[in-house]
Amino acid sequence: EKDTRELQEEIRNLAKEKNAVILAHYYQRPEVQDIADFIGDSLELSRKASQTDADIIVFCGVRFMCETAKIVNPNKKVLHPNPESGCPMADMITAKDVLKLKEQHPDGEVVAYVNTSAEVKAVSDICVTSANAVKIVQKLQSKKIIFIPDQALGNWVKRHVPDKEFVIWQGFCPPHFEFTAKEVQKLKNMYPDAKVAVHPECHPKVIQMADFVGSTSQIINYATTCDAKRVIVITEVGLKYTLMKRNPHKEYIFPESMNYCGSVYCCTMKAITLPKVYETLKNELNEVVLPEDIIEKAKRPIMRMLELS
Ligand code: 13P
Ligand code: SF4
Repeated sequence: EKDTRELQEEIRNLAKEKNAVILAHYYQRPEVQDIADFIGDSLELSRKASQTDADIIVFCGVRFMCETAKIVNPNKKVLHPNPESGCPMADMITAKDVLKLKEQHPDGEVVAYVNTSAEVKAVSDICVTSANAVKIVQKLQSKKIIFIPDQALGNWVKRHVPDKEFVIWQGFCPPHFEFTAKEVQKLKNMYPDAKVAVHPECHPKVIQMADFVGSTSQIINYATTCDAKRVIVITEVGLKYTLMKRNPHKEYIFPESMNYCGSVYCCTMKAITLPKVYETLKNELNEVVLPEDIIEKAKRPIMRMLELS
């Protein structure tokens, strides 16, 4: 059995040999983040995927992220180290649901969070991530927005764009949405000098208590540079690793509540392990394959997002 160090070295050697780029989301395990060429939030990762000149992209993240990389790079080999690793929120809406919404609201523009399947993107007008959703929706001409699938992000955007009408799908992120305002209050009482940074997938009542709301990258920038010595961070615990690396002089407090899988912990993100990355790259397994017409149709809303953000 190889130890972590050996595996990491072999993965890096293989990446070099095969001209592969390894992309990883901040929620990945620390030992996986360490072998990545690039770590980022959803927006940065999709931009990076659209710009790479590598022959192979190994995407350490959940399925919709790998699909996005494939859609912007249909001629490249995109490998997903664990094809079972999906996003439960993305599974809460289907393309059929979207078509029905369009029928009910023919004057609406469909704004899809990137946390959606390629089929759903193919019937959407524009994609957004938590880093750019408010900015993009403000720029749209349409007066009516059909926001899918995250109700939390949808409500956050609605608050910032009061001149538009919103139809919001009732999907949610299990780990983020189950965290309660009561628990934040408890942490605030324990650390009265701390600032609170919250991911917009959290419940509106939790968002209300935030000093800062943003994507994973935006939270990292805020938490590591703000005046406070302590920051309460309400997002997936994977962020702790980067926060400590960027600025070890601060204290980052993560919730330890018993919600999904024991804390704000995304089980499917953690289902990507080093041995799986190694096997996948070595044998070029788990290639992401999508029908050509889906790629073509789903490319439009993604490119539109990249142009507008
Ligand atoms: P961001 O990295 O874009 O903030 O997204 C968080 C997330 O939950 C991705 O699934
Ligand atoms: Fe999906 Fe939530 Fe996990 Fe992100 S953290 S991949 S939105 S379940």
